[in-house]
Amino acid sequence: MNILLTGGLGYIGSHTAVELIAHGHDVIIVDNLCNSKPEVLTRLEKIVGKTITFYEFDLREEALLDDVFQKESIDAVLHFAGLKAVGESVEKPLEYYDNNVGSSVTLLRAMERHGVGKLVFSSSATVYGSAESPYSESSPTGVGITNPYGQTKYVIETMMQDVASSNQQLEFVSLRYFNPVGAHESGLIGEDPSDTPNNLFPYIAQVAVGKLDKVKVFGDDYATPDGTGVRDYIHVVDLARGHVAALEHLASGFQAYNLGSGHGTSVLELIAAFSEAAGHEIPYTITARRPGDLASYYAHTDKAAQQLGWSTEKTIQDACRDSWKWQSSNPNGYIN
Ligand code: NAD
Ligand code: WQD
Repeated sequence: MNILLTGGLGYIGSHTAVELIAHGHDVIIVDNLCNSKPEVLTRLEKIVGKTITFYEFDLREEALLDDVFQKESIDAVLHFAGLKAVGESVEKPLEYYDNNVGSSVTLLRAMERHGVGKLVFSSSATVYGSAESPYSESSPTGVGITNPYGQTKYVIETMMQDVASSNQQLEFVSLRYFNPVGAHESGLIGEDPSDTPNNLFPYIAQVAVGKLDKVKVFGDDYATPDGTGVRDYIHVVDLARGHVAALEHLASGFQAYNLGSGHGTSVLELIAAFSEAAGHEIPYTITARRPGDLASYYAHTDKAAQQLGWSTEKTIQDACRDSWKWQSSNPNGYIN
């Protein structure tokens, strides 16, 4: 299939491009580079050994998007493009609604005009809000979401359901990612935060490589085995393969799937695993809880296993090893 990847030069999109090509698909990338670098394309082409079609523009540019649908014979769309910093979304909610929801509306309209009905969307476990963990796809969504970023994911999912209900030809899937971590085993592509990382895993990686002093552990008094926050970390290559599986099992209507490992790992366990991979102790200090953080959550993974035939294969140790390879060989991320 010819697959359009919006935001395909970002962290998850780039890893997914590699897996799609490995499965015989062709990819066409649209990205405005607001949170990625042109160098990603060079690295991707090195990994896959072929040229990848790339268009640089903002997805909200409807006419430019029409041109792509006209020129390329698109069979399906994987929609990664969006802004993702939770804290920033609280400061700049309109930017988040405009970019995330606005670009999704533009995309769905263009798909309708050009008769493309297959869509896989990058959603998040954040849509479960205050539901009780472990989350299953039938857990309530949209209640207790604490930030505009999470709201945009919920709004887009709702819109996808409404649109899918209006036309039996449409095959829409929302993938609810848990905590994506790790890098491609080549060390050529990985996560490259433009600023000081907000998320734990890239923060640990930058401490490991000496760019940051020590990890700040946000609270050690949660009701968890060691008192620190527990999350379901998923290797980005497993996540990428989940997209290939979703694409190959598309069916009429709207479906949501959790992409997680089904296991929780604490902050201290993650620091210990990364220390092991890096071959030296990673310094950390305990600080206050971060407002809005939940103590613990992880995925129920049965639906993806049963319906998509997909489950994670890689471990936290694999993620730490691959991330260390990426971070230590690219301490300053992509050059341009
Ligand atoms: P990323 O920022 O690395 O990738 C997103 C890409 O989209 C970037 O290359 C950016 O330049 C591009 N982009 C953003 N807005 C655009 C627009 N309007 N037009 C064109 N391109 C645009 O993020 P990621 O970690 O790869 O995440 C991909 C998707 O997965 C996002 O939608 C994100 O919300 C979602 N997600 C990410 C995580 C995570 O922890 N990384 C977890 C759950 C869901
Ligand atoms: C993980 C754990 C922190 C940083 C966020 C978004 C979510 C999704 C993934 C997109 C928590 C602790 C963190 C640090 C720490 N993104 N921590 N020190 O908050 O689970 O999820 O990213 O959809 O929507 O909310 O991820 O990596 O920020 O935190 O101790 O410097 O690490 O308290 O327990 P989170 P995270």
